[in-house]
Amino acid sequence: QAIPYFVNALPRPSRIEMLDGGRRRMVIGQTAQDMIGGELGLLTKVWGYGQKGHRGRGGLPITSPGPTFVARSHHPLEVEWANDLPYAHLLPVDDTIHWAFSGSEHTIERNGVPTVVHLHGSRSRPESDGHPDAWYTPTGVGGPRYAGNRFSYPNLRGAGTLWYHDHTHGITRLNIYAGLTGFYLLRDDAELALIAEGQLPAEPYEVEMILQDRTFRPDGQLAYPDPTWQLGGASGHPEYFGDVICVNGKAWPYLEVEPRRYRFRLLNGSNSRIYRLAFDGRWPIPFSVIGADGGFLEIPAPLERPLLLSPGERVDLIADFSGAEGGTFDLTNSAGTPFPYGDPVTEPASRVIQFRVNQPLNAAVPDMAPPGALRDAPYTIRADPARTRRLLLVDLAQLDVEHGTLTEDGGHGATMRLGTVEQGGLSWSDPVTEDPGLNDTEIWEFYNSTLDTHTVHLHLVQFQVLDETPYIADTDAHTGALSDIHLGEPLAPDLSELGPKDTVRVRPGHVVRVKATFDEPGDYVWHCHLLEHEDHAMMRPFRVS
Ligand code: C2O
Ligand code: CU
Repeated sequence: QAIPYFVNALPRPSRIEMLDGGRRRMVIGQTAQDMIGGELGLLTKVWGYGQKGHRGRGGLPITSPGPTFVARSHHPLEVEWANDLPYAHLLPVDDTIHWAFSGSEHTIERNGVPTVVHLHGSRSRPESDGHPDAWYTPTGVGGPRYAGNRFSYPNLRGAGTLWYHDHTHGITRLNIYAGLTGFYLLRDDAELALIAEGQLPAEPYEVEMILQDRTFRPDGQLAYPDPTWQLGGASGHPEYFGDVICVNGKAWPYLEVEPRRYRFRLLNGSNSRIYRLAFDGRWPIPFSVIGADGGFLEIPAPLERPLLLSPGERVDLIADFSGAEGGTFDLTNSAGTPFPYGDPVTEPASRVIQFRVNQPLNAAVPDMAPPGALRDAPYTIRADPARTRRLLLVDLAQLDVEHGTLTEDGGHGATMRLGTVEQGGLSWSDPVTEDPGLNDTEIWEFYNSTLDTHTVHLHLVQFQVLDETPYIADTDAHTGALSDIHLGEPLAPDLSELGPKDTVRVRPGHVVRVKATFDEPGDYVWHCHLLEHEDHAMMRPFRVS
């Protein structure tokens, strides 16, 4: 039976308001939710986050996405994350790739599912960062970097759209697909003042939305390919694309709105799907970008072209429905898979969410225009760079094809690597090559020699996207190392890249330059945020010291 479009209201995650800081105890576990909706009445088993109550009060049930934290700059939070996941995975685990339990006696049957929370976009100390090796199980077994399940979030940066999600080594794609995601809105005093003055829409006119593509079995349960179906049992899933688009855990929902301004905090929480969003290629409703992943732009930037959003990226938008009374608007996705040279998108994955302007205007809440400027100057990192690193995105299988050579992973799906321009592709376990000094500012250049767009995420920092430049180069047949690089004309960043970023798209055949200051010491990671790539070794350590 087909899943109907736009028969479910958009769920709104519950909020945990912690503007003054404080402590919370959260639980990570399994629940069943009606994700498909309509008349089918099917419950889908999912994993999510809930809040433990105190003496039977103040708890929140487990949901996916989990509750939205609302925090304030310089008001620290301490969160204890209790792992109460079951002793069986919802999805097939591929143990031919390196993952949490590789080389150990542990099993999910005996120890339960390992998890660890990463607060994406946060300047967290390493022990609270959700390093992939800091996982822990319900039975209390921990990975090599496990340092307890009480995490501190000092909230040292400005307002931004952060999110929290699982980061367990080698099964992040499965744990996130099973539902382990949630928002974390960091506010600062300037933003709170704009909200108080009505210049930025507040709840219920501020709506967070996480976009995730899923596939459901006929019984309503989540489907994800079993790697053992593949010849040889090795992972054959370099990417996974579902054809049902869920927003906040509901298939193709609708949102009923008043004819006024709304603030939408949009997050692509999909495994590998990149979205190109608009209303059939246009913006019949004025939409402006006011913020990127980790903070505001200088001035609101009206959208004129479709908006690209890759996994891990967030965008902060103002939509103006005033004057659109009675209208119905379907947000559509025109990005093919894999992006940009794969199959064109077709129904149903081209549908996302429907906005219905059918609610009476609540005149008690003024509908004011956002301020002309959200920060004093364009977002820039002024410090001089201590050095520039030339980093590489490479597909070993593509080298095989282009050069007729064979590599370690020849024939398998797990062939995407990060590395350096000089050394070529490196593995997760190769020694650290990115080692900024504490408080150093650096420029990192990402050369994408693959045929796909990837989305590069750095833990710890917010960076400034400088530019994106086409290049041609010679490629070493074995390592992918680049030489004789010739650069074309640099392109300016997209509108949605004009604020602080921690995750950036890199088109094939282009180099993207970003600038960041590394202001906490310790071990962190940078990786592709296409989750299948991340789990299949497209991740590297970095160390600040
Ligand atoms: Cu959103 Cu290292 O991840
Ligand atoms: Cu990738």
